[in-house]
Amino acid sequence: MTNGAPQQPQPGGGRARRLNGPLLALAIVIVVGGGFLAARYFWGVPPSPAADAGARQGELSIGGPFTLVDQDGRMVTDADFRGRWLLVYFGFTYCPDICPTSLTRNSDAIDLLGKQGEKVTPVLISIDPERDTPQKMKEYVRFFHPRMVGLTGTPEQIAAAAKEYRVFYMKAPGDQPDTYVVDHSSLTYLVDPNGKFVQFFRGEATPQEVADRLKPLL
Ligand code: NI
Repeated sequence: MTNGAPQQPQPGGGRARRLNGPLLALAIVIVVGGGFLAARYFWGVPPSPAADAGARQGELSIGGPFTLVDQDGRMVTDADFRGRWLLVYFGFTYCPDICPTSLTRNSDAIDLLGKQGEKVTPVLISIDPERDTPQKMKEYVRFFHPRMVGLTGTPEQIAAAAKEYRVFYMKAPGDQPDTYVVDHSSLTYLVDPNGKFVQFFRGEATPQEVADRLKPLL
């Protein structure tokens, strides 16, 4: 016999309660796993822009060997720069604003140091090897500083150098195939005469701030 209408399930009843456990576990796995992957990703890319510009980043492995081509078409490696302080910036000659600003700042900081500044070599490493030929680099770097070194290379060589410095870059399409820009991190890396990374400078640091930091080291 029946007891009237069939039993209606409770709204949001037993089924939902049974699913809560597994769903909660799944959610935890997604959140924790995703967080872990995100942490690994961000760890592998540039230091946080929020980090203090004066902070030493010795605990992070930044910088390392590279093989590139200079503005005169010569193959150079990181070892060729031993004995010199370097202000290394990754950018590209078609950059509309950020690169020129940072490269001007680096050059001005060196000039503020006068004779001492001669121990410091400003370097631009292109992250746009398709367009930045050695000739293009030569025309560009001399606009900023007479001693600025412009390095480019094959896409593979550039990728390897950028990876050593944990530099992020990515093409963003333009209106035409050749009008793309390259989004990139915009830190300047101070490298000592032994080829060791010392610290980075953010784009906001002034020429005077960079010079003041360099002065006692030189
Ligand atoms: Ni740029």
